[in-house]
Amino acid sequence: MRHPQLNEHGELRHLLTIEGLPRDIVTHVLDTASSFLEVSDRQVKKVPLLRGKSVFNLFFENSTRTRTTFEIAATRLSADVVNLDVRTSSASKGESLLDTIDNLAAMHADMFVVRHAQSGAPYMIAQHVGPGLHVINAGDGRHAHPTQGLLDMYTIRHFKKDFTNLTVAVVGDVLHSRVARSDIHALTTLGVPEVRVIAPLTLLPPGLEQMGVRTFTDMRAGLKDVDVVIMLRLQNERMRGALLPSAQEYFKHYGLTAEKLALAKPDAIVMHPGPMNRGVEIESAVADGVQSVILEQVTFGIAVRMAVMSILAGNR
Ligand code: CP
Repeated sequence: MRHPQLNEHGELRHLLTIEGLPRDIVTHVLDTASSFLEVSDRQVKKVPLLRGKSVFNLFFENSTRTRTTFEIAATRLSADVVNLDVRTSSASKGESLLDTIDNLAAMHADMFVVRHAQSGAPYMIAQHVGPGLHVINAGDGRHAHPTQGLLDMYTIRHFKKDFTNLTVAVVGDVLHSRVARSDIHALTTLGVPEVRVIAPLTLLPPGLEQMGVRTFTDMRAGLKDVDVVIMLRLQNERMRGALLPSAQEYFKHYGLTAEKLALAKPDAIVMHPGPMNRGVEIESAVADGVQSVILEQVTFGIAVRMAVMSILAGNR
């Protein structure tokens, strides 16, 4: 069966997940993003690729980085951008998600960028909309955050060049993390030979071994000689019940400190999708240290989101 995010020619029609995406599509996004990186350094930071198109940002969950960089990316592609304020929209009066979508589609939207607390909401929208509309998943529940996964891969490729000789550790609250799932799918798709997941047993979801990763509950053992450390936010808002004794205890065992980072390779890079809980999953000396590329991730996110939108708009 054809994947719902691909058209009949095997091209991206929507971007819903990295799971199952062919490697050449992932690489094409990264290569296209490279060509957009310099647009942000121009005096006039615009290219006309989405001129006349309307991009609707529909964020049913809060966001700083993703929503803003999608808006910047669409603006740099010369699109018209509409940011639906969900809190003051008629969703607060009980209008259903699909009724909201139908009404926005009737305004001749070309692209919906959707963040939603429910896993699968962007899929449902993608299956509902007409053929001229593209849907981009900007994070759905615990399921996927594909543009974060792609910008993370862009960042790794920028600093490390070759995926096929890397050891990458994903550390922290994997159970609740859509970023972890998208990163793991992207890393394995791009041929990273060793992907490690480091977390307490209570935050390790089942099925990781089937995804081709090694799991560690001892952070020091898991960090040994890695090239890339991807820290995850402890997602208190998604936790039901007591999965951890306390934030202090978590930091002691799973917080990234300079002392623990010294176990990785000397030129290892430190990543975090944000927002960070300083002093919980990462200490400030590391977050702001020379090995941190956390703010570069944000900058690269603009080029990667430009790439995704321009590819979708250009496909049949
Ligand atoms: N990384 C990320 O998704 O951040 P925001 O929640 O601020 O968009």
